[in-house]
Amino acid sequence: MSVSDKREQWGSRVGFILAAAGSAVGLGNIWRFPYLVGMNGGAAFVVVYVILAVTVGLTVMLAEFCIGRASQKGSVGAFKALAQNKFWRVFGWLGLLIGGFVILSYYGVIAGWTVKYMAGSLTGLMGRAASGGGADYLGAFLADSKSVVAYQVTAMALTVAIVAGGVGKGIEKSCKYLMPGLFIVLLILIARSLTLPGAEAGLAFYLKPDFSKLSGKVVIDALGQGFFSLSLGMGIMITYGSYISKGEKLPKCAAFVFVLDTMAAFLAGLAIFPALFAMGMEPSQGVGLTFVTLPGVFAQMPAGAFFSFLFFLLLFLAAMTSMMSLLEVAVTFFIDEFKMGRVKAALAAGTAITILGIPSACSLSGRLNVFGMSFFDFMDYISNNIMMPINAIGICIFAGWAWTESLQKEITNSGLIQFRMQPLWVMAVKVLAPMAIAVILASGA
Ligand code: PHE
Repeated sequence: MSVSDKREQWGSRVGFILAAAGSAVGLGNIWRFPYLVGMNGGAAFVVVYVILAVTVGLTVMLAEFCIGRASQKGSVGAFKALAQNKFWRVFGWLGLLIGGFVILSYYGVIAGWTVKYMAGSLTGLMGRAASGGGADYLGAFLADSKSVVAYQVTAMALTVAIVAGGVGKGIEKSCKYLMPGLFIVLLILIARSLTLPGAEAGLAFYLKPDFSKLSGKVVIDALGQGFFSLSLGMGIMITYGSYISKGEKLPKCAAFVFVLDTMAAFLAGLAIFPALFAMGMEPSQGVGLTFVTLPGVFAQMPAGAFFSFLFFLLLFLAAMTSMMSLLEVAVTFFIDEFKMGRVKAALAAGTAITILGIPSACSLSGRLNVFGMSFFDFMDYISNNIMMPINAIGICIFAGWAWTESLQKEITNSGLIQFRMQPLWVMAVKVLAPMAIAVILASGA
């Protein structure tokens, strides 16, 4: 039996798309995107984000799918299998480091918040939020580092349990049910938010661009968010691509994942900004935005506690599907490279990553700062705004220049299908995407 015969595969195309979308749609869309929009002046950020996501994000995603499926390996193994020059392996390792370790370490912390808020919805959060005490509620929670860590550990333990169950049964199966549920709850919230008196001001902030708000920081944040939200530049889509069957059309898969991800972020903003302005709150408060605003909205709804619980449950589940993908990068690595069993690999990786996340969890109390930001913000910043863009440049240059022929073979399933945008895409992989990323990175340095 050859290696590729033995490798697990996604059960179906829908299963794969939902799992990849499950990785992409997560806290990045519902928590991170709206707070970045709020901090970066509103609609102008949204416009820049969409432009960069289509031109750079989609291009890189397709390249990652090709690398993964051609190599049948995860981030590190893929570059080993495909590249003759050992130099390229750097990018495999970098991907493993960023995705498998750095991001998941602090992502697990926010996932823990969602668990806290699920419980809180039923035990007093609503009362506090109704009287404008949502920010204090969050502040008190964050000041209590032990409890932040306890929730983080809970979220990580659940992720480990699911990933230990395997790709098809664990990850794919759970995403099939969770993703549709998330969209339904978002739609209900939007309906509520848009019908609050004073919602128009929020809509204008979110949708009417004021380009005088553009700055280097806005563009860098938008690019970083694109990579984060689409799970790019860190080996996730390489790893997931390695489980796609050879008959599948990669451009179609990428388009689906992209549309679902962008829609989820857009809808989250639509649920949040009208409500935020209707309640006279500040959009630029940063990481706490979702956790302060939304409880305030729920508190004004009939059956608010129920909807609040439901929302944080779904946010938690969206976070879980992303966490599974992040953990899977490290797990695939341990399995492929050290021939470890899946359960052992999940346990080992999960423990290491949880420990790495503890400083992030504790820094939210304001006690642990590096370079003028909390350790948490620091991990977020270096991974999304620096390491992921650098890795994405490496992936593009490898795929576009060192591996061009195979890249084109992979995208057309060895000539069996046609990809109409192929010349354009190849140009984008070779030149446009790496140049755009480099210019943006340099301008922010
Ligand atoms: N894309 C996920 C989100 O938007 C986060 C994530 C980043 C997941 C990187 C996997 C890899 O929440």
